[in-house]
Amino acid sequence: MPAPRLEISHIVKDFGGRRVVDDVSLTVMPGQVTCLLGPSGCGKSTTLRIIAGVEKQSSGTILVDGKMVCDGDVSLPPEERHIGLMFQDFALFPHLTVGQNVAFGLQSRKATDRVHALLAKVGMSAHINDYPHQLSGGEQQRIALARALAPRPRIMLMDEPFSGLDDRLRDDIRDETLEVLKSEGTAVLLVTHEPGEAMRMADEIALMRNGKIVQRGAPYNIYNTPKDKAAAAFFSDINVLKGKVQGALTDTPFGQFLAPGVPDGTEVDIVIRPQHLKIDFDRGGRGPNPTPEDGTAARGVVERARFMGASSLVEFRMDFDGSILKAVVPSVFLPKPGMPLWLMIRRDRCFVFPRTGS
Ligand SMILES: Nc1ncnc2c1ncn2[C@@H]1O[C@H](COP(=O)(O)OP(=O)(O)OP(=O)(O)O)[C@@H](O)[C@H]1O
Ligand SMILES: [Mg+2]
Repeated sequence: MPAPRLEISHIVKDFGGRRVVDDVSLTVMPGQVTCLLGPSGCGKSTTLRIIAGVEKQSSGTILVDGKMVCDGDVSLPPEERHIGLMFQDFALFPHLTVGQNVAFGLQSRKATDRVHALLAKVGMSAHINDYPHQLSGGEQQRIALARALAPRPRIMLMDEPFSGLDDRLRDDIRDETLEVLKSEGTAVLLVTHEPGEAMRMADEIALMRNGKIVQRGAPYNIYNTPKDKAAAAFFSDINVLKGKVQGALTDTPFGQFLAPGVPDGTEVDIVIRPQHLKIDFDRGGRGPNPTPEDGTAARGVVERARFMGASSLVEFRMDFDGSILKAVVPSVFLPKPGMPLWLMIRRDRCFVFPRTGS
């Protein structure tokens, strides 16, 4: 088992008595991309700045390749940490050419080969003598990546590096960037508040909220086994059904749901993503029989249906309490408002959480 490239333990940061980073621990292995994902203000950038060495933690330790970089006593300056940085405002030096920008952090003797190799890697060899103002936003981004990678950093810290790019370009640049980073074997810690970006880029996602890491896991796992309602809601729209537990079960208009280990009388939220709500298309108004997988069907009336491109979003007003449930259906399904249909909830796709304040 190789040592983690980056290992931060129990990092705390207080600003004027307010805890902004609260006991954050993380490891990133060589060649791995970890995404720090969370809403605005949750402490992502502060965590990154502490690792980079431009901010000092209140307590906690940082190791790079097993070597102490920063604790209560030691604190290596940023330039001795072997860390590359890429931020949204990745300003290139305007008075230097592309080649000179990429060579900026290198010893001159070895620079030329490395510059050529990196420019080839990011597909920008032809632009070696251009100045930054002659390049598009996406091209500048590629140069910024080459420049950050030139000194062979052990770790790349990236803070919303793609948010300045328009949507179409962003997807391409993300994929290219990932490919280059993987080929260099760099460990990457990428900050983003966009779940789509994290799912696309990350080997591991660390979900952050109010200064704490609330859940860590591969994108598939974190999406499919969220820790709580807020973690589920961070990745997509959700439907929430309310229930109360009696004998490890909760009764709803969709039948019974298991709530193992939840004490009697606890109020629970049953959470289901819109694409996992099952619509019964072909019973002509007759509800299907209950099954162990899908439970009981409940009737709703189409309130609104919208075409989204790859899918359709149908909103139902439910007969049982007048609430709205949303279903996402692949391709085109646009029933008329007022049409009654039966809905079911797949037991393997829903989450039952004890209800909290929010
Ligand atoms: N130098 C500072 N002095 C005081 N408060 C600070 C300082 N830097 C950050 N904060 C506060 O710490 C909290 C976390 O900020 P941070 O920049 O880490 O958030 P973030 O998760 O990166 O958010 P965003 O997604 O908006 O970039 C914020 O409430 C911010 O106001
Ligand atoms: Mg930030």
